[in-house]
Amino acid sequence: MATLPSVLVTGASTGIGAAYADRFARRGHDLVLVARNRKRMEALAARLRQETGVAVDIVEADLTQADELAVVEARLRDDAHIGILINNAGTAIGGSFIEQSTDVVTRLLALNTTAMLRLCSAVAPRFAQAGEGAIINVGSVVGLAPEFAMTVYGATKAFALFLSQGLGIELGPKGVYVQAVLPAATRTEIWEHAGADVNSMTGVMEVDDLVDAALVGFDRREAVTIPPLPDVEQWNAYQAARQAILPNTRQDQAAARYRTTD
Ligand SMILES: NC(=O)c1ccc[n+]([C@@H]2O[C@H](COP(=O)([O-])OP(=O)(O)OC[C@H]3O[C@@H](n4cnc5c(N)ncnc54)[C@H](OP(=O)(O)O)[C@@H]3O)[C@@H](O)[C@H]2O)c1
Repeated sequence: MATLPSVLVTGASTGIGAAYADRFARRGHDLVLVARNRKRMEALAARLRQETGVAVDIVEADLTQADELAVVEARLRDDAHIGILINNAGTAIGGSFIEQSTDVVTRLLALNTTAMLRLCSAVAPRFAQAGEGAIINVGSVVGLAPEFAMTVYGATKAFALFLSQGLGIELGPKGVYVQAVLPAATRTEIWEHAGADVNSMTGVMEVDDLVDAALVGFDRREAVTIPPLPDVEQWNAYQAARQAILPNTRQDQAAARYRTTD
């Protein structure tokens, strides 16, 4: 029997990433855990080694720091055992756009977009060459909704969705599967970081339920998985509406409503 690929999970010290690590370990995959908090990753690794017998490596890295991110990129490029990348590390910030400092929003982009992009870029050529491999990018339903008033966070999550859909189109024919996972509110520490009290909110999913549902989508090889969305036809209609616009955008004249001369 072929050995299962190792799984590299970013943001694996807690929350959704830790749940992914748990589930892939139970499926028999060796793991590489990436985050800043070594202590938490060591505790998780010890538990998973004991409970599942898989090998677990830890890479302590702040993915907003180019030199630390480069270590993870090199690991993805060079370690042929890694066949699944889970780009999960991410954070959210509170406040409105004018309250958020330029430095804070820039750091948010470094983690939520640049790190995701660079890790995809590091691993995709090897996966394409091998004709197999999978990338899971954790986005958010906030990336569909400027109305939610989480503008920069939502923009990073729109990036995650677009990147995943585009990479899926490019890499799918080469045997590489790319999944965007779009959670809605899920009970993790991210809410604390954004200055919100998750316990006062309704409609919050438990993290294990979220990840188990996302893995159903993964096993089905869905391009986009939105665990809480009851009716997938709503998503399909949204995609169809977007695609219907596309043929109309290639014109040698501006649309009549924009013409300044008759
Ligand atoms: N929870 C929700 O309601 C929700 C909804 C939609 C989407 N999401 C997305 O799901 C993903 C996981 O979020 P979560 O809810 O599980 O959040 P979380 O509980 O706050 O966990 C975030 C993870 O990312 C790691 N991380 C944060 N900053 C990092 C950095 N600079 N470098 C490396 N690792 C870093 C954290 O570990 P360290 O602190 O140890 O570095 C932690 O392991 C994020 O992309 C988030 O945007 C969450």
